[in-house]
Amino acid sequence: MGIYSRLLSYLKPHRGRLLFAVLCMLGYTVAHSLVSVTVFLVLNGIQNQDRVVIDDLPKVSWFEKLHLPALDLPSIEFSTTFVPFMVVGVFLVRGLFEYASRYQMSIVGLRVIRRIRDQLYAHLTRLSMNFYSKGRTGDLMSRTVQDVSVVQAGVTDALVDLVKEPLVILFQIPLVFFWGGPFAFIALIVFPAVLLPISFLGRRLRTIQRKIQEQIADISSQMQETFSGINVVKAFNMEQYEVRKFEAINRKVFNFLKRAVVITTGQRPLVEVMGAVAIACAIWYGIRVLPLDRFASFLTCLFLFYEPLKKLSKVNATIQQSVGASYRIFELLNETPQIQNRPDSITLEGQIDSVEFSKVSLAYERGGEVLREIDFLVRADEIVAIVGTSGAGKTSLVNLLPRFYDPTKGVLKINGFDLRNYEVHSLRAKIGIVTQDTFLFNTTVYENIAYGRLEASVEEIKEAAKAAFADEFIQALPTGYGTVIGERGVTLSGGQRQRLAIARALLKNPPILILDEATSQLDTESEREVQRALERLMANRTVFVIAHRLSTIQNADRILVLDQGRLVQSGTNETLLKEGGVYKRLYDLQFNV
Ligand code: GTP
Ligand code: MG
Repeated sequence: MGIYSRLLSYLKPHRGRLLFAVLCMLGYTVAHSLVSVTVFLVLNGIQNQDRVVIDDLPKVSWFEKLHLPALDLPSIEFSTTFVPFMVVGVFLVRGLFEYASRYQMSIVGLRVIRRIRDQLYAHLTRLSMNFYSKGRTGDLMSRTVQDVSVVQAGVTDALVDLVKEPLVILFQIPLVFFWGGPFAFIALIVFPAVLLPISFLGRRLRTIQRKIQEQIADISSQMQETFSGINVVKAFNMEQYEVRKFEAINRKVFNFLKRAVVITTGQRPLVEVMGAVAIACAIWYGIRVLPLDRFASFLTCLFLFYEPLKKLSKVNATIQQSVGASYRIFELLNETPQIQNRPDSITLEGQIDSVEFSKVSLAYERGGEVLREIDFLVRADEIVAIVGTSGAGKTSLVNLLPRFYDPTKGVLKINGFDLRNYEVHSLRAKIGIVTQDTFLFNTTVYENIAYGRLEASVEEIKEAAKAAFADEFIQALPTGYGTVIGERGVTLSGGQRQRLAIARALLKNPPILILDEATSQLDTESEREVQRALERLMANRTVFVIAHRLSTIQNADRILVLDQGRLVQSGTNETLLKEGGVYKRLYDLQFNV
C-alpha cells in the first residue's frame, strides 16, 4: 500500500477540486438511492388505482411488522402522473452530479500524470553518468511514456469509483434494511465473501502488470537499438534475426497480457454469480412475506447494492495495475544523482590558473581500478597531450574534469581547491568538450551551434562557424543556417559534424578544453580543415587532448603517457623519445608507418 499512498500524495495540491468532486459524488449517491424509491412509487401506484398512497413511513417498510408506534406523519397521496417526471428528475440529477465529479477527478488525474512525467524527465536528466552507463534508453522511454499511462488509469478512473462506490454501498445498506428487514442480512453476509477473491486476484494482477511493463520496456529497448543501429543491422543482413528477437519479446508480452485478461474478465462474472446467489436467497424468503411494491424495491436495492461491488472489483484491478506500473516509476525517482552540489559549494569564477590531479584513482566497479594514483599539475594555457594504448584510461581521466565521475581516491583541484567544492554548473561552464563521435540534435544548424549558449546572437554564431571553417558548407546547405540536420546529424559528413562541434565549443569559449581526437589519420581537404579548426580552438586555453595526431603531439607543451591506468611517463616529444619505454613504442607504432 506504500506505493499507492505515495501516488496519492500527488493529490495534495488539488484538495479543493477533490473536495468539490467528493461533494458531487455525495449528491450522486443520494439521487442514486432514490431509484429504489421510484420503483416503490410505480408499484404502489399500480396497486392503488393510479394513486400513490403512503399513510405512514414505517408502514410502507418492513418495519411495519414490528408494530412500532406510528410517527403520525401526514399521509401522502398524489396522482401517478407525477411518477414519470420523478424518474426523469432522479436520473437527471444523478447524471449531472456524476458528470461534475468525474470531470473534476479526471482533470486532477491528468494534472497528476503531467506532474509525474515532468518530474521523471527532470529527475532523469539530473542523474549522473554512472546511472546512464547501465541504463537502457528504451527502458527509460518506456517508463516515462507507457508506465505513466498505466498509472493514469489508476489515478483518474479508479479514483472516482474508489470514492463513489463505497458511498453508494453505504447509502444502500439502510435502504436494503428499510425494504427487506432481516432478509437484508442474507444478502449482506455474502458481501465479505465477495471481497476475498477480489483482493487475491488483485494481488496476482499487480505482479503480472509489473512483468508486462518490463516486457514492454524490452520492446522499446529492442526498437531503440535496432533503429539507431539500422545501418549495422542492414550491413550484416540481420533484419530477420532482429525480427525474430522482437517476436520473442512480443510473444512474452502477449502471454502476460493473456494472464491479465483471465483475471480482469473473470472477476466480473465471479462477483455477479456470487451476488446472484445472495439475491436468490433473499428472493427465496422475501417472495413469500413481502407485499409486491416492497419486494420490488427490495430487489432493486439489492441489485443497486451489488453493482458497486462489481465496479469495485474492476477498480481494484485497475489500481493494482497502476501500482505495478508506478513501482517502476518510483524506482527511477528513488535514484539519487551521484554527483551533487555540496551544501556549501561555491561558484567557480574568474581565471583558471591550475588544474591538479593529486593521487587520483578511479574504479567504475568494486576492485577494478582503471586509474591509479595519477599525479600531475597543469598551468593555465598549457596544452597537455594524453597518449596510451586503447583501454589505458585516457577517456576515464578526462571525464573526471567535468565531474562525469568522481575519483574513488585522491582529489582533483582547480586553482588549488577540490573540484567537489565548486558548484557543478559553474564548473562545467568552464569546460568545453569535443569528442570524435560528435552528437548533434535534430534541429537547425543555428541551434546546434548555440547549444549551451542559446542566447547567443546570430552574428556570434556565424563568427564561431567561420572560425571553425564550417561557414562555407553551412551556406551551401538548402536553407543555410536554418537547415534542420536530422537526427544525430545524419545528413552531414563526419568532418562537417566535427566542425559544427568545434564551432559549438568556440562559441562557448571555455578556458578549459577537452579534446578526444579522431583515431584515424585523415588527409582529405575537409579533414585538414578540421585540423586547422582544432588548432584555432586550442589557442589560449588549458587543453587536455587525447592525441592521435603527430601534429598535436608536436604542438603539446607536455605529453602524459598512460599505461594500464598508471601515469608512466611525462615530458615533451623529444625528451620522451630519448627516454624510450612505452612512449617510444607507441610513437613508432602510430607515426612511423
Ligand atoms: P580508447 O578510447 O580505446 O583509446 O581507450 P581509453 O584509454 O580512453 O580507455 P577508457 O578510459 O575509456 O577505459 C579504461 C578502462 O575503463 C577500460 O578497461 C574500460 O573497459 C573501462 N571503462 C570505461 N568506461 C567504463 C564504464 O562506464 N563502466 C565500466 N564498468 N568500465 C568502464
Ligand atoms: Mg577513449
